[in-house]
Amino acid sequence: MTAHLKQNKLDKRNVLDGMQQGIIGKPISRSEGLLKVTGKATYAAEYHLENCLEGVIVTAPFAKGRVTVIDESSVMEMPGVITVISDERMIARAAQGTAGAAPLQKACDVDYWGQPIALVVAESFEEARNAAKHLHIEFEVEDAIFDASEVEVEPQDGATQQGDLAQAMAEAEHSVDISYTTEGHASAAMEPHAAIADWDGETLTVRASLQMLNYNIGELADSMDLDESKVRLISRYVGGGFGSKLGISQEVVAASIAAMQLGRPVRVVMSRQQVFQTIMRRSETTQRLRLAADANGRLTGFGHEALVSNLPGEGFAEPVTQSSEFLYAGENRLLKIDIARIHRMTAGSVRAPGEAVGMPALEAALDELAEKAGIDPVELRLRNIPEEHPATGTPFSSHKLAECLQQGAKAFGWDSGPRKPRNRREGEWWIGTGVASAARVHIVSQARARVTLQADGTALVETDMTDIGTGTYTILGQIAGEMLGLAQEQVKVELGDTRHPRGSGSGGSWGAASVGSAVFVACEAIRAKIASQLGISADMELTLKDSTVSWDEGKKSLSDIIDGKDIAREGHYEPGDITEDYAASGYGAFFVEVAVNRWTGETRMRRMTGAFGFGRVLNEKTARSQCLGGMVWCIGSALTESLLFDPRDGHLVNCDLAEYHVPVNRDIPDLDVIMVEERDPAASPIQAKGIGELGMCGGAGAIANAIYNACGARMHDFPMTPDRVLAAMPDE
Ligand code: MOS
Repeated sequence: MTAHLKQNKLDKRNVLDGMQQGIIGKPISRSEGLLKVTGKATYAAEYHLENCLEGVIVTAPFAKGRVTVIDESSVMEMPGVITVISDERMIARAAQGTAGAAPLQKACDVDYWGQPIALVVAESFEEARNAAKHLHIEFEVEDAIFDASEVEVEPQDGATQQGDLAQAMAEAEHSVDISYTTEGHASAAMEPHAAIADWDGETLTVRASLQMLNYNIGELADSMDLDESKVRLISRYVGGGFGSKLGISQEVVAASIAAMQLGRPVRVVMSRQQVFQTIMRRSETTQRLRLAADANGRLTGFGHEALVSNLPGEGFAEPVTQSSEFLYAGENRLLKIDIARIHRMTAGSVRAPGEAVGMPALEAALDELAEKAGIDPVELRLRNIPEEHPATGTPFSSHKLAECLQQGAKAFGWDSGPRKPRNRREGEWWIGTGVASAARVHIVSQARARVTLQADGTALVETDMTDIGTGTYTILGQIAGEMLGLAQEQVKVELGDTRHPRGSGSGGSWGAASVGSAVFVACEAIRAKIASQLGISADMELTLKDSTVSWDEGKKSLSDIIDGKDIAREGHYEPGDITEDYAASGYGAFFVEVAVNRWTGETRMRRMTGAFGFGRVLNEKTARSQCLGGMVWCIGSALTESLLFDPRDGHLVNCDLAEYHVPVNRDIPDLDVIMVEERDPAASPIQAKGIGELGMCGGAGAIANAIYNACGARMHDFPMTPDRVLAAMPDE
């Protein structure tokens, strides 16, 4: 039986807070944590299938043109080689993963350096890799475009134009007009893309590392021209995705083609370099920020324009202005995004697409405005929090930006006195502080989950939802345990298998609120069934705690009620009108202190405080970890992370974790996370909003502002590497 909930109005019942088990929100450790740290959690590439072959992908050593010859005979005599696959169905580009349709095909037309063109299959990995290196190919190279500024751009739909920004700028008491650049980013997930495909003549089973099984199954079925009922995807553990596993990529399709052709299981694991070169990037951006303010620092004009890039024919454009649409006031608004078509690998969603690069520029521009207006930058932000969505007039759902700024400032010890760069020096280090706001739109998606109250008094939660390291296993157990009066250990959660009901997938920070609501809906139905069994009209009159059901007139153990028969309900949650009626977003604030070396331009983080409001906290520990992870990404994107392409031939130069610099332990100071108490009745039936990405939306701007406050280097290009800092540092 399926229970359905489409949320069309504010959910004021706040059911979860009325429950008695007392586990929701608690900092419970991840239920699969022990398996992971002891190496017992099986990741995609780690399954042992009888007779499994190994496939290695061959990629194009040029950016634009056509492969004319793939000479299989050049490797067929080599030891262990089984076959070379250069099937038309081999996919050229990773899917963005929103359509449920096959990604772009035709592997022989090449659009970017590193595009897969063939798969070599052999008995062992070493033999396959050796043959892949020796495969003779011929190709014709055409002119490629690598620089977005060299081509005519296409405007994106959805621009905002309101009032007259130019006039507001002309009449402003204080204004800034600044251009920023950000470089491309890699998702850099720890686990490389990997798949093992197995065809039994009837069903294609693929163990892969994916975020969105609910539509990945459609993408793969479409690629292979199979009915979805003939495809099974399994992703029980995923070592990070950050967007790069939203859609299926080449290893999934290549392994599937090989397995179906050869009748043996085939494993394809991308090398670290291949993951960097072929999978997906965050677009580099060029942004222009125009802010106009009156004498009190109140914004009258707000302009944010961006240029991003992608391959020809791709639908995704980095949504740089996403939070600029509603974060600050200003009646005269101009927001737009242009896209240039260039020959670099597919640009797609990388953690916090849009805000991750749009907000640092905005928050840095606000810092310059605050300086010009002589207003404390925290105060300037507080003065510009709009009452309602400034373009559409839609009311906000719960909105904690002011509280985050105030509580963060207090915890950090923010000095709201006059600010002047080069005010504090310790030896050869200039010390400075900076602030930025955080905002990340809250998204929900439909989701299904089945909850079974079993004869033995435990519960089972099943959905094809993934846990990409975020804590999904744990929070779904907490929701079910809270609703059904069970201890955390009494709830078993099974995820990552398309045999289960379709969840929401993990992406866009929507997972917890969406599939969590599906589990909630299923549990409500189970509670209703128990109530009706007891002849009670409303399940709210029941108290379920510690495997006992009590109500006005009595008390019974849960197992007496179940009486040997499972009670199973599928919950189906769908976003309803409420998503249109309210503008829902998570909010936050970052405060940082940096030290900048006066001789080398090196920036060291000294401390960082993040205060965030994102609805109900489902698990204090996993939520905090999401905030910490986001703040670490802020530090990386502010100081080191940057995809570097060779301007001559378009190849990615830094395609591993030695050369693409994500922060390591030594780079990360004390990080302090404050979670501002909140319930959002518009966000989801469980009053929770997304938290996966909020922690990295804007923090790089706080770091830029702190660098300026420390040493007087005002920069407009991210990342702010030592060479750039030195060049911008004024003479002493
Ligand atoms: Mo996210 S970038 O939607 O995984």
